[in-house]
Amino acid sequence: MYRLERCSGDDLALHREHLAIARPRQGEVHWERFDPSGYPAEALDAAAALYAHRAVQEMHSLALFTELAAQLHLLGAPLDWSGAFARMIADEVRHTDLCLRMCEALGRPARPEIDPSQLHLLSASSPRSHVRQTIVAAFCIGETISGRMFRRALRATDVPLAREVVAAIVTDETFHAELGWELGALLMRRDGPAFDEERRELAARLPFLFSHFAGLCQVTGDRAWALGSPPVDEGPNFGTLSEAGYAKAFFDGMEEDVVPGLVAIGLPEAEPAYEALVRSLALRDECHTEGTPERA
Ligand SMILES: [Fe+2]
Ligand SMILES: [Fe+2]
Repeated sequence: MYRLERCSGDDLALHREHLAIARPRQGEVHWERFDPSGYPAEALDAAAALYAHRAVQEMHSLALFTELAAQLHLLGAPLDWSGAFARMIADEVRHTDLCLRMCEALGRPARPEIDPSQLHLLSASSPRSHVRQTIVAAFCIGETISGRMFRRALRATDVPLAREVVAAIVTDETFHAELGWELGALLMRRDGPAFDEERRELAARLPFLFSHFAGLCQVTGDRAWALGSPPVDEGPNFGTLSEAGYAKAFFDGMEEDVVPGLVAIGLPEAEPAYEALVRSLALRDECHTEGTPERA
Protein backbone atom coordinates (compact mmCIF):
# COMPACT_ATOMS: atom_id res chain seq x y z
CA MET A 1 0.00 0.00 0.00
CA TYR A 2 1.15 3.54 -0.62
CA ARG A 3 -0.31 7.03 -0.68
CA LEU A 4 -0.78 8.74 -4.01
CA GLU A 5 0.74 12.24 -3.96
CA ARG A 6 0.11 14.75 -6.70
CA CYS A 7 3.27 16.82 -6.57
CA SER A 8 6.98 16.28 -5.75
CA GLY A 9 7.71 20.01 -5.70
CA ASP A 10 6.43 22.96 -7.75
CA ASP A 11 9.89 24.14 -8.71
CA LEU A 12 11.12 20.84 -10.14
CA ALA A 13 11.62 20.24 -13.87
CA LEU A 14 9.75 16.94 -13.58
CA HIS A 15 6.70 18.71 -12.22
CA ARG A 16 6.73 21.29 -15.03
CA GLU A 17 6.91 18.44 -17.53
CA HIS A 18 4.06 16.70 -15.76
CA LEU A 19 1.89 19.82 -15.95
CA ALA A 20 2.44 19.95 -19.71
CA ILE A 21 1.21 16.33 -20.00
CA ALA A 22 -1.68 16.88 -17.59
CA ARG A 23 -3.11 19.82 -19.56
CA PRO A 24 -6.36 18.82 -21.35
CA ARG A 25 -5.92 17.97 -25.04
CA GLN A 26 -8.94 20.14 -25.83
CA GLY A 27 -10.40 23.07 -23.93
CA GLU A 28 -9.20 24.39 -20.63
CA VAL A 29 -9.97 23.93 -16.95
CA HIS A 30 -10.51 27.25 -15.18
CA TRP A 31 -9.51 26.20 -11.66
CA GLU A 32 -9.21 29.81 -10.50
CA ARG A 33 -12.87 30.55 -11.26
CA PHE A 34 -14.19 27.96 -8.83
CA ASP A 35 -15.39 29.22 -5.46
CA PRO A 36 -16.14 26.38 -3.04
CA SER A 37 -17.88 28.74 -0.65
CA GLY A 38 -20.88 28.71 -3.00
CA TYR A 39 -21.66 25.08 -2.14
CA PRO A 40 -22.76 23.28 1.03
CA ALA A 41 -19.99 21.46 2.92
CA GLU A 42 -21.70 18.07 2.51
CA ALA A 43 -21.80 18.51 -1.29
CA LEU A 44 -18.07 19.37 -1.30
CA ASP A 45 -17.28 16.36 0.93
CA ALA A 46 -19.20 14.01 -1.35
CA ALA A 47 -17.59 15.45 -4.48
CA ALA A 48 -14.10 15.14 -2.96
CA ALA A 49 -14.76 11.51 -1.99
CA LEU A 50 -15.94 10.82 -5.54
CA TYR A 51 -12.84 12.37 -7.14
CA ALA A 52 -10.45 10.68 -4.68
CA HIS A 53 -12.03 7.35 -5.64
CA ARG A 54 -11.77 8.23 -9.32
CA ALA A 55 -8.10 9.13 -8.84
CA VAL A 56 -7.47 5.59 -7.60
CA GLN A 57 -9.25 4.07 -10.59
CA GLU A 58 -7.34 6.33 -12.99
CA MET A 59 -4.07 5.40 -11.30
CA HIS A 60 -4.93 1.74 -11.81
CA SER A 61 -5.51 2.40 -15.53
CA LEU A 62 -2.19 4.24 -15.69
CA ALA A 63 -0.30 1.35 -14.10
CA LEU A 64 -2.09 -1.25 -16.20
CA PHE A 65 -1.47 0.54 -19.51
CA THR A 66 2.17 1.09 -18.62
CA GLU A 67 2.51 -2.62 -17.91
CA LEU A 68 0.78 -3.52 -21.17
CA ALA A 69 2.93 -1.14 -23.18
CA ALA A 70 5.98 -3.04 -21.98
CA GLN A 71 4.49 -6.31 -23.30
CA LEU A 72 3.29 -5.29 -26.76
CA HIS A 73 6.43 -6.62 -28.36
CA LEU A 74 5.38 -10.12 -27.27
CA LEU A 75 2.65 -9.86 -29.87
CA GLY A 76 5.03 -8.55 -32.52
CA ALA A 77 2.79 -5.47 -32.65
CA PRO A 78 3.67 -2.70 -35.13
CA LEU A 79 5.22 0.48 -33.77
CA ASP A 80 1.96 2.43 -33.98
CA TRP A 81 0.63 0.35 -31.07
CA SER A 82 3.42 1.78 -28.92
CA GLY A 83 2.60 5.32 -30.04
CA ALA A 84 -1.08 4.85 -29.22
CA PHE A 85 -0.21 3.39 -25.81
CA ALA A 86 2.17 6.28 -25.08
CA ARG A 87 -0.76 8.63 -25.62
CA MET A 88 -3.05 6.57 -23.41
CA ILE A 89 -0.51 6.45 -20.60
CA ALA A 90 -0.26 10.24 -20.81
CA ASP A 91 -4.06 10.45 -20.78
CA GLU A 92 -4.30 8.41 -17.58
CA VAL A 93 -1.64 10.62 -15.96
CA ARG A 94 -3.88 13.56 -16.92
CA HIS A 95 -7.02 11.94 -15.48
CA THR A 96 -5.34 11.05 -12.21
CA ASP A 97 -3.99 14.58 -11.93
CA LEU A 98 -7.37 16.15 -12.78
CA CYS A 99 -9.10 14.10 -10.09
CA LEU A 100 -6.53 14.95 -7.40
CA ARG A 101 -6.54 18.58 -8.43
CA MET A 102 -10.33 18.59 -8.23
CA CYS A 103 -10.02 17.47 -4.57
CA GLU A 104 -7.64 20.39 -3.98
CA ALA A 105 -10.05 22.84 -5.66
CA LEU A 106 -12.86 21.54 -3.44
CA GLY A 107 -10.72 22.46 -0.44
CA ARG A 108 -10.19 18.80 0.44
CA PRO A 109 -6.77 17.69 -0.86
CA ALA A 110 -6.54 13.90 -1.07
CA ARG A 111 -3.76 11.32 -0.80
CA PRO A 112 -5.72 8.18 -1.62
CA GLU A 113 -4.29 4.78 -0.79
CA ILE A 114 -3.17 2.58 -3.68
CA ASP A 115 -3.10 -1.19 -3.37
CA PRO A 116 -0.76 -2.52 -6.08
CA SER A 117 -2.15 -6.03 -5.62
CA GLN A 118 -5.45 -4.84 -7.14
CA LEU A 119 -3.75 -4.09 -10.40
CA HIS A 120 -3.40 -7.52 -11.94
CA LEU A 121 -6.88 -8.38 -12.98
CA LEU A 122 -6.16 -11.62 -14.77
CA SER A 123 -3.65 -14.37 -14.59
CA ALA A 124 -3.37 -16.10 -17.92
CA SER A 125 -1.33 -19.08 -18.93
CA SER A 126 1.05 -17.20 -21.23
CA PRO A 127 2.24 -13.62 -21.66
CA ARG A 128 0.52 -13.42 -25.06
CA SER A 129 -2.69 -14.66 -23.55
CA HIS A 130 -2.29 -12.14 -20.73
CA VAL A 131 -2.01 -9.23 -23.19
CA ARG A 132 -5.03 -10.44 -25.16
CA GLN A 133 -7.16 -10.87 -22.05
CA THR A 134 -6.12 -7.57 -20.54
CA ILE A 135 -6.93 -5.63 -23.70
CA VAL A 136 -10.38 -7.19 -23.94
CA ALA A 137 -11.00 -6.60 -20.21
CA ALA A 138 -9.56 -3.11 -19.81
CA PHE A 139 -10.58 -1.62 -23.14
CA CYS A 140 -13.42 -3.52 -24.79
CA ILE A 141 -15.26 -3.74 -21.47
CA GLY A 142 -13.73 -1.22 -19.02
CA GLU A 143 -13.08 1.79 -21.24
CA THR A 144 -16.29 1.26 -23.23
CA ILE A 145 -18.43 1.30 -20.10
CA SER A 146 -16.50 4.12 -18.44
CA GLY A 147 -16.74 6.29 -21.59
CA ARG A 148 -20.51 5.92 -21.51
CA MET A 149 -20.69 6.73 -17.79
CA PHE A 150 -18.53 9.84 -18.16
CA ARG A 151 -20.60 11.06 -21.14
CA ARG A 152 -23.75 10.76 -19.04
CA ALA A 153 -22.04 12.36 -16.04
CA LEU A 154 -21.03 15.24 -18.31
CA ARG A 155 -24.65 15.81 -19.30
CA ALA A 156 -25.69 15.69 -15.62
CA THR A 157 -23.18 18.09 -14.15
CA ASP A 158 -24.24 21.66 -13.41
CA VAL A 159 -20.99 22.83 -11.75
CA PRO A 160 -18.87 24.66 -14.38
CA LEU A 161 -15.51 23.40 -13.04
CA ALA A 162 -16.72 19.78 -12.96
CA ARG A 163 -18.04 20.17 -16.50
CA GLU A 164 -14.56 21.17 -17.72
CA VAL A 165 -12.83 18.36 -15.82
CA VAL A 166 -15.27 15.68 -16.97
CA ALA A 167 -15.16 17.00 -20.56
CA ALA A 168 -11.37 16.60 -20.57
CA ILE A 169 -11.69 13.01 -19.34
CA VAL A 170 -14.51 12.17 -21.79
CA THR A 171 -12.43 13.30 -24.78
CA ASP A 172 -9.71 10.81 -23.84
CA GLU A 173 -11.93 7.93 -22.71
CA THR A 174 -13.88 8.00 -25.97
CA PHE A 175 -10.59 7.55 -27.82
CA HIS A 176 -9.52 4.72 -25.47
CA ALA A 177 -12.67 2.73 -26.15
CA GLU A 178 -12.34 3.25 -29.93
CA LEU A 179 -8.73 2.16 -29.83
CA GLY A 180 -9.61 -0.81 -27.63
CA TRP A 181 -12.01 -2.20 -30.21
CA GLU A 182 -9.40 -1.83 -32.95
CA LEU A 183 -6.86 -3.63 -30.78
CA GLY A 184 -9.43 -6.26 -29.76
CA ALA A 185 -10.28 -7.02 -33.41
CA LEU A 186 -6.59 -7.23 -34.37
CA LEU A 187 -5.85 -9.51 -31.42
CA MET A 188 -8.66 -11.90 -32.25
CA ARG A 189 -7.17 -12.83 -35.62
CA ARG A 190 -5.89 -16.41 -35.72
CA ASP A 191 -2.17 -15.84 -35.44
CA GLY A 192 -0.57 -19.15 -34.54
CA PRO A 193 -1.05 -22.63 -33.14
CA ALA A 194 -1.83 -21.37 -29.60
CA PHE A 195 -4.68 -19.16 -30.79
CA ASP A 196 -7.58 -21.59 -30.31
CA GLU A 197 -6.55 -22.43 -26.76
CA GLU A 198 -6.00 -18.74 -25.90
CA ARG A 199 -9.37 -17.80 -27.40
CA ARG A 200 -11.07 -20.54 -25.36
CA GLU A 201 -9.33 -19.33 -22.22
CA LEU A 202 -10.49 -15.78 -22.87
CA ALA A 203 -14.07 -16.87 -23.58
CA ALA A 204 -14.10 -18.83 -20.32
CA ARG A 205 -13.08 -15.66 -18.41
CA LEU A 206 -16.01 -13.57 -19.71
CA PRO A 207 -18.48 -14.47 -16.92
CA PHE A 208 -15.88 -13.44 -14.33
CA LEU A 209 -15.08 -10.22 -16.21
CA PHE A 210 -18.71 -9.21 -16.65
CA SER A 211 -19.43 -9.72 -13.00
CA HIS A 212 -16.18 -7.94 -12.03
CA PHE A 213 -17.16 -4.83 -14.00
CA ALA A 214 -20.74 -4.98 -12.70
CA GLY A 215 -19.18 -4.85 -9.22
CA LEU A 216 -16.87 -1.96 -10.16
CA CYS A 217 -19.91 -0.07 -11.49
CA GLN A 218 -21.71 -0.83 -8.22
CA VAL A 219 -24.55 -2.58 -10.02
CA THR A 220 -26.54 -3.95 -7.13
CA GLY A 221 -29.91 -4.50 -8.78
CA ASP A 222 -31.41 -5.49 -12.09
CA ARG A 223 -32.38 -3.37 -15.08
CA ALA A 224 -35.97 -2.85 -13.86
CA TRP A 225 -34.65 -1.31 -10.65
CA ALA A 226 -32.15 0.86 -12.58
CA LEU A 227 -34.89 2.13 -14.90
CA GLY A 228 -37.30 2.79 -12.06
CA SER A 229 -34.98 5.06 -10.06
CA PRO A 230 -33.72 8.61 -10.86
CA PRO A 231 -30.40 8.59 -12.81
CA VAL A 232 -28.99 11.50 -10.78
CA ASP A 233 -29.27 12.49 -7.15
CA GLU A 234 -30.59 15.86 -5.96
CA GLY A 235 -28.32 18.81 -5.26
CA PRO A 236 -25.36 20.37 -7.07
CA ASN A 237 -23.90 17.85 -9.51
CA PHE A 238 -20.12 17.58 -9.66
CA GLY A 239 -20.12 15.11 -12.55
CA THR A 240 -21.74 12.02 -11.16
CA LEU A 241 -24.77 9.76 -11.52
CA SER A 242 -26.92 8.05 -8.92
CA GLU A 243 -26.32 4.37 -8.18
CA ALA A 244 -29.20 3.54 -10.51
CA GLY A 245 -27.80 5.92 -13.15
CA TYR A 246 -24.48 4.06 -13.14
CA ALA A 247 -26.29 0.74 -13.29
CA LYS A 248 -28.35 1.87 -16.28
CA ALA A 249 -25.19 3.06 -18.06
CA PHE A 250 -23.67 -0.36 -17.35
CA PHE A 251 -26.64 -2.27 -18.77
CA ASP A 252 -26.89 0.01 -21.84
CA GLY A 253 -23.14 -0.18 -22.44
CA MET A 254 -23.12 -3.96 -22.14
CA GLU A 255 -26.14 -4.46 -24.39
CA GLU A 256 -25.44 -1.84 -27.05
CA ASP A 257 -21.64 -1.96 -27.23
CA VAL A 258 -19.78 -4.60 -25.24
CA VAL A 259 -21.70 -7.81 -25.94
CA PRO A 260 -22.32 -7.17 -29.66
CA GLY A 261 -18.74 -5.93 -30.03
CA LEU A 262 -17.28 -9.06 -28.45
CA VAL A 263 -19.48 -11.28 -30.62
CA ALA A 264 -18.28 -9.34 -33.68
CA ILE A 265 -14.60 -9.87 -32.86
CA GLY A 266 -15.08 -13.62 -32.44
CA LEU A 267 -16.33 -14.19 -28.90
CA PRO A 268 -19.92 -15.44 -29.28
CA GLU A 269 -19.69 -16.73 -25.68
CA ALA A 270 -20.29 -13.11 -24.62
CA GLU A 271 -24.05 -13.51 -25.14
CA PRO A 272 -24.66 -16.44 -22.76
CA ALA A 273 -22.17 -14.95 -20.28
CA TYR A 274 -24.16 -11.69 -20.18
CA GLU A 275 -27.49 -13.53 -19.94
CA ALA A 276 -26.12 -15.43 -16.93
CA LEU A 277 -25.08 -12.15 -15.29
CA VAL A 278 -28.51 -10.61 -15.87
CA ARG A 279 -30.16 -13.69 -14.34
CA SER A 280 -27.91 -13.56 -11.29
CA LEU A 281 -28.58 -9.82 -10.81
CA ALA A 282 -32.33 -10.41 -11.03
CA LEU A 283 -32.02 -13.13 -8.38
CA ARG A 284 -29.91 -10.86 -6.19
CA ASP A 285 -32.49 -8.11 -6.61
CA GLU A 286 -35.26 -10.45 -5.45
CA CYS A 287 -33.18 -11.19 -2.33
CA HIS A 288 -32.61 -7.43 -1.88
CA THR A 289 -36.29 -6.70 -2.19
CA GLU A 290 -37.20 -9.36 0.28
CA GLY A 291 -34.35 -8.77 2.72
CA THR A 292 -33.63 -5.06 2.68
CA PRO A 293 -36.44 -2.59 3.19
CA GLU A 294 -34.49 0.34 1.67
CA ARG A 295 -34.52 -1.37 -1.73
CA ALA A 296 -38.18 -2.39 -1.53
FE1 LIG B 1 -8.90 7.40 -17.49
FE1 LIG C 1 -9.01 5.42 -20.00
